[in-house]
Amino acid sequence: MCGIVGYVGRELAAPFLLQSLKRLEYRGYDSAGIALIEDGRLLRFRRAGKVKDLEASLDVAAFAARVGIGHTRWATHGAPTDDNAHPHLDCSGRIAVIHNGIIENHAVLRHQLEAEGHVFSSQTDTEVLAHLIESLSEGDLLDAVRRAVAQAQGAFAVAVLSQDDPSRIVVAKRGSPLVVGRGEGAGYVSSDVPALLGKATEVQFLLDDEVGEVRCDGYAVFTLDGRPVHRPPHRVSADPIAIQKGGYKHFMLKEIHEQPRSVGETIREKLDEATHALSLPALEKGFADIDHVYFVACGTAFHAAKVAEYLWEDVLPVPTHAVIASEFRLRNPHITPRTLVIAVSQSGETIDTLMAVRRARARGARVVALVNAEQSAIERESDAVVYTRAGIEIGVAATKTFTAQIAALGLVGLALGRRRNPDSEAVCARELAELALLPGRIVEALRVEARIQSLAEQLHRASDVLFLARGVLFPIALEGALKLKEISYIHAEGYPAGEMKHGPIALIDEGKPVVMLASRDIAYEKLLSNMEEVKARKGLVIAVSDAPDDPNLRRLADEVLPVPAATGISAPILFTIPLQLLAYHVAVSLGTDVDQPRNLAKTVTVE
Ligand code: F6R
Repeated sequence: MCGIVGYVGRELAAPFLLQSLKRLEYRGYDSAGIALIEDGRLLRFRRAGKVKDLEASLDVAAFAARVGIGHTRWATHGAPTDDNAHPHLDCSGRIAVIHNGIIENHAVLRHQLEAEGHVFSSQTDTEVLAHLIESLSEGDLLDAVRRAVAQAQGAFAVAVLSQDDPSRIVVAKRGSPLVVGRGEGAGYVSSDVPALLGKATEVQFLLDDEVGEVRCDGYAVFTLDGRPVHRPPHRVSADPIAIQKGGYKHFMLKEIHEQPRSVGETIREKLDEATHALSLPALEKGFADIDHVYFVACGTAFHAAKVAEYLWEDVLPVPTHAVIASEFRLRNPHITPRTLVIAVSQSGETIDTLMAVRRARARGARVVALVNAEQSAIERESDAVVYTRAGIEIGVAATKTFTAQIAALGLVGLALGRRRNPDSEAVCARELAELALLPGRIVEALRVEARIQSLAEQLHRASDVLFLARGVLFPIALEGALKLKEISYIHAEGYPAGEMKHGPIALIDEGKPVVMLASRDIAYEKLLSNMEEVKARKGLVIAVSDAPDDPNLRRLADEVLPVPAATGISAPILFTIPLQLLAYHVAVSLGTDVDQPRNLAKTVTVE
């Protein structure tokens, strides 16, 4: 969603702000803007469209400003127009505000401020903050911001620049992520650490209801009632290379190809391959007595959770349910102190998942966060954390974090299973031996890319595509369909193959592409029967299979994409690879913006 950056220091602010905004493009946005203080005057530039459009409209080299803030906006209140783009100004044009999140009581505040004589120039909720800060200002910007956010309801991360106080940027946070940082003669603000890689040497993550100020010698953080906050800072260790394309055309393709390593790292951290000992410190806090498990997650992370629901049934003798986080809140789940809730989230900031965590904890469940980003809100609000070690994911469509989530969830299931169910030891031993081979098998699975590239040429004219599978591969069908629709905008649906006859078969006519995941180990013969049914209606069968040489399969399928044979945790991961590549190459054939698909945001922080 929206991105925030801020700089105050010895160097020129404008080039830093524009470069950092480009690094945040992956979050998804539809307009961009910056504010600078130049020769004692606040200047603001905004534009609907991409950061490069904003940049092209500016003579960046002409700016001498050494302090400024920048924003990428993902429209919620008001269309993505120049006027609604951030920064927003107060009536005097001396205070500039950028904001992520939603000010829920903006209408009430706007009404009050208009009654006081403030004049608004946008439809955004953010603009109320600029006028509120102006109205509450008694000379100290930090104090005015503190009092303004105390009146605001909802979720926000805010950065404020004032012409009258050019030595600092003032920030505040509730709900939406915000970090402040320090580097060589500079202070930084960002909604997301990647914008600061290679610049800030240490950062501090603000907690809810904290405010702060950033100066050229660093930052200070305070509670809303003014008490200084002292927490040890975090070293910025990630390499800026991690956020470069490294020769690939898109981040998504780079991330697909990183999976041997990202899955390998995720496993290696938790499994001693020599002794088969599992090391998951998060689970040492107990959980031996759990009698019920819920996974809560959204989108791709939900599909990983759904895979885990199948996998855990083989090892853990308790009911497990994967529930879409936004629905979890609307249901009346069976929760007791013996309920374990696993919140699965790449970003750790997804608001629906965070709300589900809060609901689960309020009812007494124990919550484990399974996240990729460190220091996230979901991690902070959980009892324990397990990390996926996929590295930063820039492509908006999740790929390497999905397979890392399956690997990590699989291992957590095995660890709990070993404790609860001695009978699961045989399954565990087989699984752990297979996992050692998994990174190599992913390399093998990626070799299908050239064939997928030519298949994509054929598929990109399709108006919709069905993905069918059975058992643990059903969530992979859901994920294959989601990937395709997200980045190519072709309509796609995933179904359990057994459901085909109960409705979706009506869609099949001549040439309709149907991607069918056929594993020797999962109701193979039944899936072949489903293939016959598709064929009988002249559908175009694309089989993804670990039995690619089977003559029966070859007779039915128009195209066979091979995956290495494997069972357990490895199988859903390996079947994912061709589907990611298919979505990617179809999107490339169509010329869509693969890394930043329309309307999508990497981190969804509004409900
Ligand atoms: C799809 C995708 C989204 C996310 C979902 C949850 O490619 O990326 O569906 O999976 O928004 O995000 P996290 O995992 O950050 O909670």
